[in-house]
Amino acid sequence: MIVLGIETSCDETAAAIVTKDGECGRILSNVVRSQHSEHKPYGGVVPEVAARAHVEVIDDTIKEAMREAELHFDQIDGIAATGGPGLIGGVMVGTMMGKALSFALSLPFIAVNHLEAHALTVRLTGDENRCNVDFPYILLLVSGGHCQLLAVEGIGQYRCLGTTIDDAVGEAFDKTAKMLGLGYPGGPEVEKIAAKGNSARFSLPRPMMGRTGCDFSFSGLKTKVRQTINSLPPGELKQEDIADLCASFQEAACDVLADRSENALDIFLQLYSKGGPFVVAGGVAANAAIRARLKKIATIKSLQFIAPPIHLCTDNGAMVAWAGLEKLLLGESDDLDFRPRPRWPLDPGDPKLNLPE
Ligand code: KG4
Ligand code: ZN
Repeated sequence: MIVLGIETSCDETAAAIVTKDGECGRILSNVVRSQHSEHKPYGGVVPEVAARAHVEVIDDTIKEAMREAELHFDQIDGIAATGGPGLIGGVMVGTMMGKALSFALSLPFIAVNHLEAHALTVRLTGDENRCNVDFPYILLLVSGGHCQLLAVEGIGQYRCLGTTIDDAVGEAFDKTAKMLGLGYPGGPEVEKIAAKGNSARFSLPRPMMGRTGCDFSFSGLKTKVRQTINSLPPGELKQEDIADLCASFQEAACDVLADRSENALDIFLQLYSKGGPFVVAGGVAANAAIRARLKKIATIKSLQFIAPPIHLCTDNGAMVAWAGLEKLLLGESDDLDFRPRPRWPLDPGDPKLNLPE
């Protein structure tokens, strides 16, 4: 089976083609066109700018993915597109394109939940020994818009163990970068500069740490970064101050993610006596310091730790194509009247995620 996946929910226009040979997923092409230069002057994603940029490049992105895979449309078995959650203008561009291709080619259309695409990426990439990862597993999903701990029981079957009560961790990285005058997106910049800094110099809070449960909070940490910047001598920040603040911030974020994950692993082991691996996914999972810290937590609990390859942590079409392929193999597809969703919780039972629109 071969599926084309389209991703347009935030600031990357992406298209990819994946297939499954036996147990193993394989990426035949993966084209990501980032809009970072368009959003850089604003220090964050501007929804209207994003939607227009998707419209401009989506055709070429898909054509390039087809060319790279050396395939014709008549060799494709399904069209998957991110149907939400995300910036609605962008999601509409991707779903419209997916539906149009599906209609024109008489192929099934699969509306993919962007969070599910992140969640299933490790089943495409596997670990060092196997090409697939079995259910259940415990997932830390950390991106620009989400920060959640979920038990992944199967395709479409998620149990939310904890979520952020305010900002997502990726958002905190981006805002910290913005306050320090670093580029956008902030996460990779903060990580790079943190490597040269002293993480012990500034004392920053670790919200929720030590509490029961698995919820997160990052707004207090962000506020303290601002107060710390304001307490430094007026004028341009010194390179050393920026590096030390990045390092101190990243260390605090690592501590919080590790503490909350440790609680989640305990709950997961109570719920599923046979256990399962600890998986991290989403853009922030590209951070080496965070990966290393989470691996330690897994080792303490005698669980395997799995993270996708760095380039498949941030948004891409391969994860969307794969989630579509997994659903199609179960006989699931969507009607062409599917309505793009700005919100789409993985676990609809979680009241915290069912916020009013
Ligand atoms: O999954 P993603 O590409 O888009 C969303 O679904 O939100 O995640 C983007 C987020 C951004 O906040 C970005 O700053 C963060 O992931 N990020 C990182 C790193 N690379 C991307 N955060 C920390 N360290 C990184 N290396
Ligand atoms: Zn994402």
